[in-house]
Formats: sequence, C-alpha cells, structure tokens
Amino acid sequence: MQMKSTLIQKLDDKQAIIGIVGLGYVGLPLTIRYCEVGYKVIGFDIDPTKISVLEQGKSYIEHIPGSAIQAAVAQGFEATTDFSRVSEADALIICVPTPLNQYREPDLSFVTNTTDALLPYLRPGQVVSLESTTYPGTTDEELLPRVESTGLKVGENAFLVYSPEREDPGNANFSTRTIPKVCGGFTPACLEVGMALYGQVIDRVVPVSSTRAAELTKLLENIHRAVNIGLVNEMKIVADKMGIDIHEVIRAAATKPFGFVPYYPGPGLGGHCIPIDPFYLTWKAREYGVHTRFIELAGEVNSAMPDYVIAKVGAGLNALKKSINGSRVLALGISYKKNVDDMRESPSVMLMEKLRDLGADVSYSDPHVPVFPKMRRHKFDLSSVPLDYETIASYDCVLLATDHDKFDYELIKKAAKLIVDTRGRYLQPSPHIIKA
Ligand SMILES: NC(=O)c1ccc[n+]([C@@H]2O[C@H](COP(=O)([O-])OP(=O)(O)OC[C@H]3O[C@@H](n4cnc5c(N)ncnc54)[C@H](O)[C@@H]3O)[C@@H](O)[C@H]2O)c1
Repeated sequence: MQMKSTLIQKLDDKQAIIGIVGLGYVGLPLTIRYCEVGYKVIGFDIDPTKISVLEQGKSYIEHIPGSAIQAAVAQGFEATTDFSRVSEADALIICVPTPLNQYREPDLSFVTNTTDALLPYLRPGQVVSLESTTYPGTTDEELLPRVESTGLKVGENAFLVYSPEREDPGNANFSTRTIPKVCGGFTPACLEVGMALYGQVIDRVVPVSSTRAAELTKLLENIHRAVNIGLVNEMKIVADKMGIDIHEVIRAAATKPFGFVPYYPGPGLGGHCIPIDPFYLTWKAREYGVHTRFIELAGEVNSAMPDYVIAKVGAGLNALKKSINGSRVLALGISYKKNVDDMRESPSVMLMEKLRDLGADVSYSDPHVPVFPKMRRHKFDLSSVPLDYETIASYDCVLLATDHDKFDYELIKKAAKLIVDTRGRYLQPSPHIIKA
C-alpha cells in the first residue's frame, strides 16, 4: 500500500524518473512528451548508433526534429545502452518491436529479451508498462512470471500494466498528448499506478479492467483496419470490372454522416502494424480452438494486391505495344504510407521486386527516402531520381505507389507516358492514367 502511494505521489509530482526501453517510432516521441512536461527520462536501447545520434542532439526519425531532442536533453534526458541504470528509474516503459517470424507467428523475442535484461536491476517500488502490440495474455503469461522471479510481488511492491501505443507517424492532427491512451493493470493497484504514470502526459487515459482487455483493444483497432481495407480492396476489383471508379464511390459514400467510415484501397498493406498485428490474434485464438476467418480472408485479399497492380502495369504497357520485360518503370513513393520515411513492410518494395523479377528496369523517386535503405529482406542499389519533366518522360511507366504530398502531380501527369495510379490520386480520367 505504502509502495503504491509513494510511487503515485512521485509520478504526480513529476519527481519520478521515467525509463523508456526501445527508442524507436514509439519510444522516442513518448520520451519527448515526458521531458516536455518536466520528467527526467532515461532512454534505453540496444542500438549504440541510435544512442550516439541522440547524444549529439540529433534525430533519426524524419518527423521528429533535432530541436525536440535538444530540448529533451536540456530537460535531463540521457540515452544509454547500460541497463544497470534501470534501477534509477521509477517507471519502465517497454516499446520494442513485435514482428512475425518466418512462419507468420508472433516473435516475442524482443519483448522477452528486453524484460530479461531489466530483471537484474528491478527493485521494489517500480512500475513496468508494456506498450508493444501483442496478443492477449502476453503481460500476465510472459512479463508477470519474469518480474516475480526476482522475488518482487506484482500489485504489492511492483506494478505491471499494459498500455498500447497508438502513435500515427505523419498525422498532423494528433500528437502523443492528444491521442487517448488505454491502460490495463494486472491488479487494481497496478491500474492506479498506470493511470498516474500516463495521466500527466496524455490528455485522456482510458482505464480497462485487465491487461488482457487492453491487449485485445489494440488488436481490435488494427484488425478493424485490416479487415476494412481488405473489403475495400475487393470492392476496388469489382468496381474496376464494372467500369466504376472506386474512389469516386468512396468519396460519395463518405458524405453519409453516420454508419459509414471511409477506408481506401491501395497496392497492399504496409507498415509495422496492419499487416502483422492481426496474426498475433490468429495465433493466440488457435489455443482456444477459434479460427479467425475475417483476419485470414482480409490477409488473403490484401496480400493479392501487389499482383493486381503488376497486372495493371502489364496491361498498360501492353496497350503501348510494350512488355514489362525491358521497360523502364519509375516507382513513385517507396515508404509504406504518404509523407513519412518509414519503409517497414512497404508494398512499394514488393512491387519493385516483382517488376525487377519480370525484367523491368526499375528506378524510384521518394522525397522522404533519398537512398534505398538497407533492409533485411530486400536489396536495391538505388537513389531517389529527381522529378523533372525530362526524367519523368524518359520512363515507359510511372507507378504511383505512395502518394506523398510533395510530388508535383500536374507535372507528372504532363510528362509521363503512362501512369498506374494505385492511390486514386488522379480524380479526372485520362487515356494515359490507369487506376490500379
Ligand atoms: N510505429 C508505429 O507507428 C506504432 C504504432 C503503434 C504501436 N506500435 C508498436 O510499438 C512497438 C514498437 O514499435 P516501433 O515502431 O517503435 O519499433 P522500432 O523498431 O521503431 O523501435 C524499437 C526500438 O527498440 C530497440 N530494441 C530492440 N530490442 C531491444 C532491447 N532488448 N532492449 C532495448 N531496446 C531494444 C530497437 O533498437 C529500436 O530502437 C511494436 O510492438 C509496434 O507494433 C508501433
């Protein structure tokens, strides 16, 4: 009881030291937010390059300016690979990746390795919060026994919560502060501590009854997106066969003020969340003998999109008496969504690979990705091509994969011989624009 009150008091008074573990797309904005309101933050990461960039007051994420890092450092922010400093922190917030393995099953190794790295330095009076997206049961099945293996008793002298991140990089309408945050505790005391942990930095913290409810909340949000994108991708194919522009239809349907939420078709699912998270639930549901049919079906439809787009490229070139083999194709936009530099699971890369395999000479242009980065499963020795009239005109096909606002769409329309538009960016029909 005493431990809980002392920790809550420290959090309320902003005297608590916040440890953020994993300084990526989720951990870094959270760090900045805690610093903004006056907490001292220690950031932990296993990547020494990130630590040294932060030490120089610089950022490695495009939408986070160096000035925000410098302001955090002025507020006492330190980044380190030294986990022995975990004992200095009153709160430890884990923001590490939760990918799928080669069998498309959850790979929790980052979460479990990180937790194991914290264990030797945990002490009474700390709260551990997991933010990584994961299946229901992760916090109480994986984190709880580990934390209690140190002799601590969760709910009494240590506190455990799950609070999923809802970061939306590149979305100018919402910030870490204004996105409501769901929080579940392993015990009621844990939840109280969790509410205090986030209450000072997030405008609205939404309590739920358990860590499992919080875990499933995050998955429901992302499954809802994946399934609706699958639906609209299927509608796109039907509309195309009927000679109807799906984007016109979505725009019209979106004028209904209730009961309809617009989702947009695209060349495939991208990013760290939507193509991956639903399968965390699929895997866990098997343990309960439940088959998640909507998730599988949406996955099937969405993962067929790159081939659908390639067929459209082939058809467009064919109409010009050309083949993909030997054609020069320029992919526009290679990050997974518009206006960001994040390449994770980008469908553009899959399109580029498929075109290259079919014999196309592939280039790309992306104002957010000047050089094709090193990726685990993909390799292109390419730099972004400048978008002037002559360059655009020199390609047989321009494939609009990610519709960044920085592109000059009028110029592209004027200069290109053939445009395959996967994002519905071009509203007016034109003989040299194919919707895909
Ligand atoms: N990126 C998003 O928009 C977003 C949104 C909502 C939820 N999420 C979820 O948040 C989690 C983190 O995602 P992210 O996008 O920040 O990932 P990220 O890859 O950008 O960052 C993760 C960081 O963790 C570090 N790391 C890995 N293992 C570590 C360890 N053992 N100890 C300390 N640091 C370690 C990595 O070096 C990296 O800096 C994932 O579960 C993801 O699904 C991400």
